[in-house]
Amino acid sequence: MIPYGKQHITQEDIDEVIRVLKSEYLTSGPAVTKFENIVKEFTGAKHAIALSNATSGLHVACLAIGLQKGDIGVTVPISFLASSNCIIYCGAEVDFVDIDNQSICMSPVKLEEYIKKNGAPKVVIPVDFAGIPADLPKISELSKKYNFKIIEDASHSVGSKYIYNNEVYKCGDCKHADLAVFSFHPVKTVTAGEGGMVLTNDEELARRVRMFANHGMERESSNFKEWKINNKNGKLEKYTDEGICDKAPWLYQQQLLGYNYRITDIQSALGTSQFRRIDQTIEKRKKIFNEYQKAFEGNNNIQCPIIPNDTDPAWHLYIIRYVGEDKEWRIKTCNFLRDNGIFSQVHYIPIHLQPWYQERYSRDEKFPSSESFYDSCLSIPLFPDLTDEELNKIINLINKI
Ligand SMILES: Cc1ncc(COP(=O)(O)O)c(C=O)c1O
Repeated sequence: MIPYGKQHITQEDIDEVIRVLKSEYLTSGPAVTKFENIVKEFTGAKHAIALSNATSGLHVACLAIGLQKGDIGVTVPISFLASSNCIIYCGAEVDFVDIDNQSICMSPVKLEEYIKKNGAPKVVIPVDFAGIPADLPKISELSKKYNFKIIEDASHSVGSKYIYNNEVYKCGDCKHADLAVFSFHPVKTVTAGEGGMVLTNDEELARRVRMFANHGMERESSNFKEWKINNKNGKLEKYTDEGICDKAPWLYQQQLLGYNYRITDIQSALGTSQFRRIDQTIEKRKKIFNEYQKAFEGNNNIQCPIIPNDTDPAWHLYIIRYVGEDKEWRIKTCNFLRDNGIFSQVHYIPIHLQPWYQERYSRDEKFPSSESFYDSCLSIPLFPDLTDEELNKIINLINKI
């Protein structure tokens, strides 16, 4: 079966993982720092915090900005559940804003309409869809006007770029967002098996993200809260007036209620090794994307992905939209491809239509662009190891339908 997405693993990746397995640390060791450093260097963001996956990254990013009960977070219906669940985890409520019909990312126009009607949310989570950067500059302008935080869900857009005012920006650089989150699930552009990375240019947010991802623990004594302790031997029972101890090396404080969202050194070694060749990986993905674009150009039943102006997406998904009359097209195509050994997928069922959300979501909002996108979309295989033969087979089958 040819899947819709799959990891690309080299001998170097395997060697790096084995090296860690033979080393002193399997978790919280130097391979994690190395992974964070390579992602920092790649994006240009000042802080990178590696953690267990993007879901945990989105959760702690929301916690770091102080999202809590009584607050509202806004995201799009066309995304994976995690973009929205992370808001619920914090006890806050989710509202949705519809997508733009072309980019399939959050529409800044509809976001402003939402704010004018309902007031500003505490946080907006735009999702870079399939590799296409969300319109972060416009959303950032709105955040200044209406005062909300931005967490870029960059799970699909490791390596994607956009131009704004003649300058090139990278998804995850946090120039137009407070925080950004990458996913390293095996179908993504870079994998760590499972893994995520939170990025930010704000030192305090970075500190809070790290703490929330590790039981709310602070080890740096200069950041300790008022805590009277014997300065000579670190004993807690012998309170003195000397204040905070910075001599006992074992001391840590729980300052927040955090989680164990740590990543291992084993995962980090794989992620680092994958980042070293990310440019080649992106090129391979772009090549397949372009082959599909050419192949479906003359197919009147299919609308190919539209590349928004001033963007350079590092493609995570290739999604066709059916624009013909046959209401059964997608189910027939999906099954026909499966019968021929090809696995297609749908990204995504709109989140607000999920039973859990239907039972709780009370606003009378409509999301026509998201729902019509869902009705017509189908993701077909896109991954670096897809052979020319496989690619041609997929193209021929789809054009035959
Ligand atoms: C847009 C988006 N956000 C968040 C996630 C969650 O990522 P992870 O599986 O790393 O938790 C995914 C995963 O598919 C995703 O596609």
